[in-house]
Amino acid sequence: MITIKNEKEIKKMREACRIVALAHEEIKKAIKVGITTMEINDIAERVFIENGANASCKGYPHGSRNPFPAAACISVNDEVIHGIPSNRVLKDGDLVSVDLVADKDGFFGDATRSYVVGRGSQNAYRLVEVAEESFFEGIKMATVGNRISDISHAIQMTVERAGFSVVKEYQGHGIGTKMHEEPGVPNYGKPGRGARLEAGMTLAIEPMINEGKSGIIEQPDGWTVITADGKLSAHYENTVLITNSEAEVLTIL
Ligand code: MF3
Ligand code: CO
Repeated sequence: MITIKNEKEIKKMREACRIVALAHEEIKKAIKVGITTMEINDIAERVFIENGANASCKGYPHGSRNPFPAAACISVNDEVIHGIPSNRVLKDGDLVSVDLVADKDGFFGDATRSYVVGRGSQNAYRLVEVAEESFFEGIKMATVGNRISDISHAIQMTVERAGFSVVKEYQGHGIGTKMHEEPGVPNYGKPGRGARLEAGMTLAIEPMINEGKSGIIEQPDGWTVITADGKLSAHYENTVLITNSEAEVLTIL
């Protein structure tokens, strides 16, 4: 079931999303050559705590034998998603994706940013740029009466026109009182399919895009997903609110 959020619920979504955006702003300022992925994680965790929010990824999914151990998913270079923060030191030219989810007062916000640290390859910059651009092409289609796959199609076309590929095994999602709600929001597909968009839906739209082929491999740690060809991957995500005019991005301040 796809839930429609009322004004009171949207207010709570805004607050969770504001905190995620705030954490991203702090991290953006701090990211440089020499920082460890754990130090990035700790910034996110501190901002969440300071603002009365929970780090939703930590211990997710509840009751699992192998829950995610940290506040942030931090994925470097060929890591696509769900990288585990560690003492890994970021070096010149690394492409790092930081995926943050926070919940407060029962509502969730979810956003991801990718950065090139120091001076990277032309392809690294381009990949980060196209991930972001494909999100914005996607939400142009996120209007009342359109369907979910209109977003998906716009993302895929933007990425493939740029000569890159979209990851197909993972997708965006509805979000609200749970991190993942219906509907799934794939980053590929024919237009005109899936649920019709209605005002009050909240969606996490999140292109995960690869420099080379789209294939991925799940690592033995049970979390980290890497590209099968070892090439770079970038990820960009925001939580958005469907309205009667343009979709509103809730995770940008
Ligand atoms: N942003 C990710 C998602 O949409 C967050 C999952 S991280 C996890 O699925 F650790 F909680 F799994
Ligand atoms: Co997400």
